[in-house]
Amino acid sequence: MTNRLTIRQPDDWHLHLRDGVMMESVVGVTAQHFCRAIIMPNLVPPVVSEADARAYAARIEQAYRKASSSVGTANTATFTPLMTLYLTDQTDPAEVVSAYGNGVIKAVKLYPAGATTNSASGVTSIDNVMPVLEAMAENNIVLCIHGEITRTSVDIFDREKVFIDEVLGPLRQRLPELRIVLEHVTTEHGVDFIQAQSKNTAATITPHHLMLNRNHMLVGGIRPHYYCLPILKRAAHQKKLVAAATGGDPRFFLGTDSAPHTASTKESACGCAGVFNAPNTMSVLAHVFEAVQALDKLEGFASEHGANFYQLPLNNRTMSLVKQNTPVQHAEQIQVGAEHVVVFDPGEPLYWSVESVN
Ligand code: DOR
Ligand code: ZN
Repeated sequence: MTNRLTIRQPDDWHLHLRDGVMMESVVGVTAQHFCRAIIMPNLVPPVVSEADARAYAARIEQAYRKASSSVGTANTATFTPLMTLYLTDQTDPAEVVSAYGNGVIKAVKLYPAGATTNSASGVTSIDNVMPVLEAMAENNIVLCIHGEITRTSVDIFDREKVFIDEVLGPLRQRLPELRIVLEHVTTEHGVDFIQAQSKNTAATITPHHLMLNRNHMLVGGIRPHYYCLPILKRAAHQKKLVAAATGGDPRFFLGTDSAPHTASTKESACGCAGVFNAPNTMSVLAHVFEAVQALDKLEGFASEHGANFYQLPLNNRTMSLVKQNTPVQHAEQIQVGAEHVVVFDPGEPLYWSVESVN
């Protein structure tokens, strides 16, 4: 039986760090395991300009330096945030090209207006941003998409499929050279769509969508800490996601979508969407991959496919994971000022833990 695994150090291709005291509390958690992370721009106000992205990167840098000095680990010193711009109907193509050319951003994020947390300034119609997308295709800039339609008449469980049929499919045909990441894919339809494309199309998958389906969230009581967007789907979709993640296909890679909200804003009559999984992502992934005898595919999914898609070098450091005989005790929450954030509960005992990053 395998009880130790050494892989190239992973990256997180979809992460919410927030700002201020929340960021100070969570950045060190990610930096302990991950070398780089694509940082989502859905702040209030959002990160819409090159100057915003520069300033946000500087705040992240400052926060993780502070975190690394208090945690005292060597790993945190090498964390690199990869910045994104938040696409709006008003985004100027020249701003995006300049921010990318100057090395400030690595991608642009498209939120359909109203799709999720802090998406009010998002895109109302693809036609409004076509000039930006054309400039991105010409300049080899990656577009990250939150793939859900926002029309109120569409059922929440169908929103990814309808988005793919109505928006992503046509966009893919209109701009074949644009490099697109369908963020946090959650459905069979989404996986099939990615696999049907011949080039320039990939998807991230979250640990929670690999571990859970909608029954975990809704049977026997409603569990607000499992509420996220896109919402958890049926078990058949979960199975398809596990097959995609563990199958070695380079078009699928890790994006945790670790999205911290304080417990009080989630345990509420109208709770926020988001799962804070940064502390135990690698334990969860090892668990999921081992369950389908695919531990040999974990490195590709967590540490190689994403970097290759983003055309960035692979990390040089390695991460060692060990499997223990008794369940790993993860912290159940982290403190954020006077409040706390609840850590993702995978619902099953985990035996793998990160031993070291070297
Ligand atoms: O669950 C989610 N939380 N999904 C998103 O798309 C956004 C995120 C957040 O920012 O909280
Ligand atoms: Zn997200």
